[in-house]
Amino acid sequence: MVARRWGIIADQYATLFLDHDFGDRELTGLTDFVHGRLSQIRPERVLDIGTGTGYLAQWVSKSLPTVRRVVGIDISARMVEIAVASNRSERVSYVRMAAEELRRRRLPVAQSTLIEAAGHSAGVRFDVAVANLSLMDVYDLRAVMAGISRHVKLGGKFILTITNPMAGFLSTASYREEPLGRVGRRPCYSREFWKKGIFLFKGRELPFVYIRHRPLCAYTSAMLASGIVISDICDRFVQPGAFEPVYIYIEGEVQKCT
Ligand SMILES: C[S@@+](CC[C@H](N)C(=O)[O-])C[C@H]1O[C@@H](n2cnc3c(N)ncnc32)[C@H](O)[C@@H]1O
Repeated sequence: MVARRWGIIADQYATLFLDHDFGDRELTGLTDFVHGRLSQIRPERVLDIGTGTGYLAQWVSKSLPTVRRVVGIDISARMVEIAVASNRSERVSYVRMAAEELRRRRLPVAQSTLIEAAGHSAGVRFDVAVANLSLMDVYDLRAVMAGISRHVKLGGKFILTITNPMAGFLSTASYREEPLGRVGRRPCYSREFWKKGIFLFKGRELPFVYIRHRPLCAYTSAMLASGIVISDICDRFVQPGAFEPVYIYIEGEVQKCT
């Protein structure tokens, strides 16, 4: 269901970026914030979870001098096709898979297959995993977090950005229509349920995708359960004239590797 909807939206989603330029997507300061943090962390190996069109992966590889390897994963076949077709860097590669599979699957963390095999036995891991606006519709958040602590090195970072689950909660039509999220006539913030996510960007409305409504604590608890200790939360991503933050940034440090 989730993969199919993202497949439908993929080609239009790709056109939201000018010349494949991820940096162009300003998103009330979120993009710059993520980039700023990544340049402070100075990673060599980056895992991009829910990479979509793959532009963040390519942008990171182009703009951060320390980066030697980026692997982007995505559940949607069409998203991965677009990512592969636009890729000009041999440091970047893409794998079609669900984030929940990170617990079991190997990834090409080193650049060549030979080094990859050796790398795995030598325990080469990613320095940082990024999930930029992509974990709002995974089926099993805890499985994803367990996968991250398997692929990221001890002391490595996890950067998570999500749309603010509290923003527009009582006013958004798609929430009001959702029967499972209701208690009586009112939507219930603390419950989890699927809703239709209407995609509005630069004045355009794209076909809907499915979004799992989760309270903020669902993300933080899942991180902590996998030994990813939260080191920062930032919600200063507010549109001019608005009150609620549109996005939430959460950063964690992997303190238990599985
Ligand atoms: C809003 S897009 C974000 C893409 C990209 N990170 C960006 O910042 O432009 C969400 C992406 O997450 C992917 N996705 C959703 N659920 C997923 C899952 N369980 N495993 C992997 N990717 C998933 C979708 O296919 C989609 O490409």
